Amino acid sequence: MRLGVIGTGYVGLVAGAGFADFGNDVVCIDIDHSRIDRLRQGEIPIHEPGLPELVAANVAAGRLRFSTEFADATQDSDVILLCVGTPPAADGRADLSQVYAAAEAVGRCLSSDFTVLVNKSTVPVGTADRVRDIVASVTDKPFAVVSNPEFLKEGSALDDFLRPDRVIVGVGPASGPAGRSRDLATSEQVDDRARKLLRQLYSAVVRKNDRLLFMDARSSELTKYASNAYLAMRISFMNDVARLCEQIGADVELVRRGMGMDQRIGPSFLFPGVGYGGSCFPKDTRALLHIAEQVGLSLPLVEATESINVRQKRRLLDKLLAHFALSEDQPDALAGKVIAVWGLAFKPETDDVREAPALALIEKLVALGASVRAYDPVASVTARQSLQASLGDKMTRVTITSGAYDALSGADALCLCTEWRQLRQPDFRKIARLLRGKLLLDGRNIWEPALVRSFGLTYEGIGRR
Ligand SMILES: NC(=O)c1ccc[n+]([C@@H]2O[C@H](COP(=O)([O-])OP(=O)(O)OC[C@H]3O[C@@H](n4cnc5c(N)ncnc54)[C@H](O)[C@@H]3O)[C@@H](O)[C@H]2O)c1
Repeated sequence: MRLGVIGTGYVGLVAGAGFADFGNDVVCIDIDHSRIDRLRQGEIPIHEPGLPELVAANVAAGRLRFSTEFADATQDSDVILLCVGTPPAADGRADLSQVYAAAEAVGRCLSSDFTVLVNKSTVPVGTADRVRDIVASVTDKPFAVVSNPEFLKEGSALDDFLRPDRVIVGVGPASGPAGRSRDLATSEQVDDRARKLLRQLYSAVVRKNDRLLFMDARSSELTKYASNAYLAMRISFMNDVARLCEQIGADVELVRRGMGMDQRIGPSFLFPGVGYGGSCFPKDTRALLHIAEQVGLSLPLVEATESINVRQKRRLLDKLLAHFALSEDQPDALAGKVIAVWGLAFKPETDDVREAPALALIEKLVALGASVRAYDPVASVTARQSLQASLGDKMTRVTITSGAYDALSGADALCLCTEWRQLRQPDFRKIARLLRGKLLLDGRNIWEPALVRSFGLTYEGIGRR
């Protein structure tokens, strides 16, 4: 098949390289010229394990190309994947300007007998209809628009692409024009043709087709938000349980394991910590609340999920202040303190720092007068850019170090915010020697309290005795 991919971020680049690897002819385009230049020079603009090798192999094989011209992606393409960003607007709703702009630009260049526009971006219910209207207003070529939400996880995106739990495809029913077609009489025929192409596209991924689930576009769009909100809810629930554990003298790590052994519950997404971040959970829970609000509904569980997370992102700060017997109300409460932070990415194996708990902590520390020494194995560049934008002149109070232990010299405490593999078994003797204060705040519960304490360090995790 010939495919066009619009947007070369985490979703677009993985899908483009993944489908090219199955033998398809793929053109990925982006309006970010510098990103396309880097990709053409063989540089991968994001950190995703295995992606550089996959891109290089498919570029070398002539199956994967990069361009800034929409016509290169649409020419003779059977399928166009829309993979542009849907960042949160100020009021929480998903900002769809990238989706609409991309849809219009694609529509103007359509040239095949029939093209399916596949929306992989996370979008509110009804967006497929809106995209259909936009494209129909600028082309006479036959086309269909389907919803195909992406469920990949950064850090294991290639594996998720190759072995998805499920592939959801939402087709019709169109409430607007079903695409103008000289050859296809009805919207049902358009939908059938789209279904066939999508089945063909995903045949290599879900070979038995037992994990390919067709539904209508609205249900498909909502499935994505409901899934993310549910996973976020599990994390917030455990963060609440962890808070209770601290008050009643229970250990959340034992509670978590005990709960996860129940097959009805399962062990995933039960890890308490410093709150969820990233480019999906925070914005998608807020967007879901907005979707409900539009039709006069409230979703109390999702509201609580979000507010617990806001509180949880402050957890390490509260513990630091309590340890030093300080109050946030005191101006410059942390003046003179040096705080080391390990882990800046919102989770391991990615350089994505969007809504990362570590950055929220650092911003608070700096606002309270502290100096910060921070380390991350791969996210130092993205973190520096993000902190520079939020802190401005105060960025001089943040040092991002190239080694984990370099961050510790003269620090009063170490806060762990991301459970990178490289940080799971550190040299505690060295930590004890380098730290000025002896406090370790383990925001991901990856260290054994008794072991840490045996080196003369003070250990505090999340919800642990
Ligand atoms: N990142 C994830 O883990 C993940 C997982 C599942 C779903 N999603 C969803 O997928 C979508 C994309 O996410 P992402 O993380 O890949 O985003 P991203 O911000 O990393 O990448 C988006 C890319 O689209 C490009 N772009 C913007 N407008 C464009 C236009 N008009 N034409 C062409 N290119 C354009 C941008 O320059 C950027 O390179 C979002 O809706 C997101 O919620 C993301």
